[in-house]
Amino acid sequence: MYTPSHLTDFLGTETPKAWCESAIQNINILLIDHAHCERKAATSAIQLITKNPHAEDLIDKLSPIVREEMLHFEKVRKILRKRKVKFQALPPSRYSRGLHALRSKTGNQESLRDDLIIGAIIEARSCERFFALIPYLKDFPEIQQFYTHLADAEQRHFEIYWNFAKQIDKKVHWRLNEFLALENEMIKGPDALFRFHSGTPTVGGC
Ligand SMILES: [Fe+2]
Ligand SMILES: [Fe+2]
Repeated sequence: MYTPSHLTDFLGTETPKAWCESAIQNINILLIDHAHCERKAATSAIQLITKNPHAEDLIDKLSPIVREEMLHFEKVRKILRKRKVKFQALPPSRYSRGLHALRSKTGNQESLRDDLIIGAIIEARSCERFFALIPYLKDFPEIQQFYTHLADAEQRHFEIYWNFAKQIDKKVHWRLNEFLALENEMIKGPDALFRFHSGTPTVGGC
């Protein structure tokens, strides 16, 4: 199963093989952090609704995303329970915090545009990561099947966020490139902490 080219074209860089190998060695950490990612994806969509109560078309798309992300959260927790792994707090990776540090704080359309760009990048990267991981998950058929299903959903979410971002700002590509320069650095650069959105694992750093 290959990553759709429009995702890698959008993101500009692919998940390093070393990250996939590390994911298999840290499968329980991957699942716990993944559950947190789904919870945070639902929270981010709710926050966007809260901040933009007049954006009816956007809310119409975001509300089903909230429900869908919570279903993903429940499914990951079900897999954790089956594996007898406790869902627990986990210090997050630098990824989401890094992207949000670049977000415009003006509180107007620029902030909304940046929120939508961040949403599009996180959904696209998550999807790209699922596609990258699927061939490595032969010994974990339930997770492999689940991630194949999730790749479709996150691809749809990516398109929703990106289409709205393009609608509200004609210069969105210029801004996207600023975010992607940082994102690509976090994905390719060395990272001592293994997480769903972490970078290239440092030797013995997982
Ligand atoms: Fe999800
Ligand atoms: Fe999503």
